[in-house]
Amino acid sequence: MSEKLVVLTCGGGNGAHCLAGLAAMRPDVESRVLTLYSDEAERWSAKLKSDMIITVHQDDGAKKTMNTKPSIVTKDPKQAVPGADYIFIVVPAFAHAQYFKAMAPYIGDNTVIVGLPGQAGFEFECVHYLGDKAKTCTIVTFESLPWACRLIEFGKNVEILGFKDTLGASILKGKQCNLARPIVETNQYILGEKPKVRRVQNYIAITLMAKSIVHPPIMYGKWSSWDGKPLTEKPLFYQGIDERQAELLSGVSDECVATAKAIEKKIGGLDMSDVIHVFDWYLNYYSDQITDKSNLMMAMRTNKAYDGLVHPMKEIEPGKYVPDFTYRYMAEDVPDGIVPMKGIAELAGVPTPYLDEVITWCQGKLNKEYLVGNKLTGKDVNETRAPQRYGLNKLEDLFQGNFETTP
Ligand code: NAI
Repeated sequence: MSEKLVVLTCGGGNGAHCLAGLAAMRPDVESRVLTLYSDEAERWSAKLKSDMIITVHQDDGAKKTMNTKPSIVTKDPKQAVPGADYIFIVVPAFAHAQYFKAMAPYIGDNTVIVGLPGQAGFEFECVHYLGDKAKTCTIVTFESLPWACRLIEFGKNVEILGFKDTLGASILKGKQCNLARPIVETNQYILGEKPKVRRVQNYIAITLMAKSIVHPPIMYGKWSSWDGKPLTEKPLFYQGIDERQAELLSGVSDECVATAKAIEKKIGGLDMSDVIHVFDWYLNYYSDQITDKSNLMMAMRTNKAYDGLVHPMKEIEPGKYVPDFTYRYMAEDVPDGIVPMKGIAELAGVPTPYLDEVITWCQGKLNKEYLVGNKLTGKDVNETRAPQRYGLNKLEDLFQGNFETTP
């Protein structure tokens, strides 16, 4: 381990700018960036002559600016990865595999690989590409991004609109991984004061509570009976939820909770209490923002954090909109979201009529086949992050071999 903590950020989007910038502000951290996408590395490198600015919107409405600068931005894993103590992957889930493949030959022992956020199936994919090296590494999965953030100017200025108060993270520590620094505290140090990092008991729990469960049921509930006529405005996404959509989301969430309980019964020593119903999650996380807490539908309809958020729509001619089924609410949250959850439920022997109904409609819109009837045996399962895709076909497989963990 080098004297300085070497933190590598993978990606070149909103979140990657925040993390690379925040890490670079710590006095004993070397902050590197690896971005494989397009010409991002060249463009960001060219901006390194001067400081990068992080603009933070504070609770009192004031804005604070901070100057920072990562030490290097490159697209060459050979330059970025050797010596990295912490590798944060800060790109949408569809881009994770590309980074694992590129970095695997250069990742050293005792490295912490962090999915920020991980999204369902992050550990399956990471272990798949790392193989036995996973035993000497630790995989951390965050449940979401710590900030609501957006780029103002690429490589130059990123804005943090808000911080989450707390953020759950699971830790899959390889049996032969020896870390000098405590994991939760080191992640906290890199991220800064907020959000407060909270350990989630295990990686399957964090997978079953991934927020990717929210979008597909709402899309299905809204568009399965659509008559195909263009709309004149974009409907509200969360705040427009009706009873049927709320029932679908609640049903999917019940199935994830039932899966967690079944796993707890079948596998000794696991605590899955972090897997809670989505309604309880809303009450915990958005307590101050929700005005009507009487049920899930009203909580979502009256959540101020969702003001103005609309369905993903394509404008086919001026003022005429149709739903965009290629948006990440479907393209990502099905194969890297609810399909892995279905896969885990299947291994736990839990029936999932709601998940099945939602996946069946979504796969039709995505032109894929994941489910055949209610079984995950479709020809496109190998494009998802379900455990079955990686040859994990028994519940026990999720907790042994390279998935065995130490405290
Ligand atoms: P982003 O949309 O800014 O990410 C774009 C970056 O991903 C690009 O700059 C590039 O580096 C990479 N990328 C895009 N297309 C690629 C491709 N075809 N091949 C390889 N790499 C590609 O993402 P952002 O906003 O940083 O978010 C990261 C994750 O966090 C996402 O999963 C997002 O859903 C989630 N999230 C984001 C929030 C936000 O406020 N930005 C809030 C909560 C969650």
